[in-house]
Amino acid sequence: MEYYKADPDRYDKMTYRRCGRSGIKLPLISLGLWHNFGSVDVFDHFIKIAHTAFDHGVTHFDLANNYGPAYGSAEENFGHILKRGLGAYRDEMIISSKAGYDMWPGPYGEWGSRKYLMASLDQSLKRMGLDYVDIFYSHRPDPETPLEETMGALADMVRQGKALYVGISNYNAEQTREAISILREHKVPCLIHQARYSMFDRWSEPDLLPLLEKEGVGLIAFSPLEQGLLTDKYLHGIPENSRAAKSTGHLQRSQVTPEAIEKVRLLNTIAKERNQTLAEMAISWLLKDERVTSVIVGASSVAQLMDNLNALKNTQFAAAELEAIEKVLQSKLT
Ligand SMILES: NC(=O)c1ccc[n+]([C@@H]2O[C@H](COP(=O)([O-])OP(=O)(O)OC[C@H]3O[C@@H](n4cnc5c(N)ncnc54)[C@H](OP(=O)(O)O)[C@@H]3O)[C@@H](O)[C@H]2O)c1
Repeated sequence: MEYYKADPDRYDKMTYRRCGRSGIKLPLISLGLWHNFGSVDVFDHFIKIAHTAFDHGVTHFDLANNYGPAYGSAEENFGHILKRGLGAYRDEMIISSKAGYDMWPGPYGEWGSRKYLMASLDQSLKRMGLDYVDIFYSHRPDPETPLEETMGALADMVRQGKALYVGISNYNAEQTREAISILREHKVPCLIHQARYSMFDRWSEPDLLPLLEKEGVGLIAFSPLEQGLLTDKYLHGIPENSRAAKSTGHLQRSQVTPEAIEKVRLLNTIAKERNQTLAEMAISWLLKDERVTSVIVGASSVAQLMDNLNALKNTQFAAAELEAIEKVLQSKLT
């Protein structure tokens, strides 16, 4: 493969939104490497996805210690992608990693201890061949470790220069309030909360989003397409090679229920009326809210990524469209 050279027009193709009250702006669409970049995937295929993203102004790449499969392999592969040319643009990129879920055996290989977080960040830096990550997250709250310990470790990573900013993921509103306050005491602001958010999962709307807005913390939405369910791909069954069909996929066949598919069918009709694919509409629907800093999409092909980027062409919704969508989302289908 030829040495990579980024498209000079990439910044004309993307809109950037400020992350809370910080100095950082993120692209409206970010790329996540949870799936599709592991040792089970094809290098020549996913390097093209990464290049296409950057060529379209996607400056933010989201990783975690255990992304793959196998655990660690997405970071390793991203390190190879950086070495093969993308790394020349390191200062134009926001690269994040996380620790919190199980990574290695024994009592120090998961959750929120200082021991685990510090060791995991060092391993992530090594795998990616980086001196620092831009954002490091506590991937999930730990019911046993004091929050002071977990947040203290995050603050120290910033002081050590191994992370420029820190964030939290999967914390509920109350845990988030406490984490923000502890980090503030350390004079290390919480930059961002990474929360699952889609048309089908709106847990963050009542308490978390208003809290983040008040505290000046950004929200980045993950699984905006419900791992592919909120697209037209499952309308006629479960295709081979889809996440729901793969043994390594996280979407279970049992989640592709007739009720969900009926909602998807109705939403697909609304999307068509807006001249969008359902994937585009599902992403635009999240981005209509200015409190959502960015949406992290996954993509198993360049075509999927391009479809998702097309969402940026129309993030406005008429009141009647929002009402129609709401009616579908609230309906109890039997
Ligand atoms: N903080 C956390 O706890 C957490 C948890 C989960 C994810 N995340 C982050 O969020 C990122 C995105 O999560 P996700 O992968 O679940 O996101 P997603 O965008 O909801 O799902 C991605 C999957 O949907 C399908 N897809 C994507 N675009 C499509 C399109 N235009 N048309 C049809 N199908 C399409 C593909 O599935 P197929 O493979 O079937 O083609 C793709 O792999 C992750 O990579 C990770 O960075 C964070």
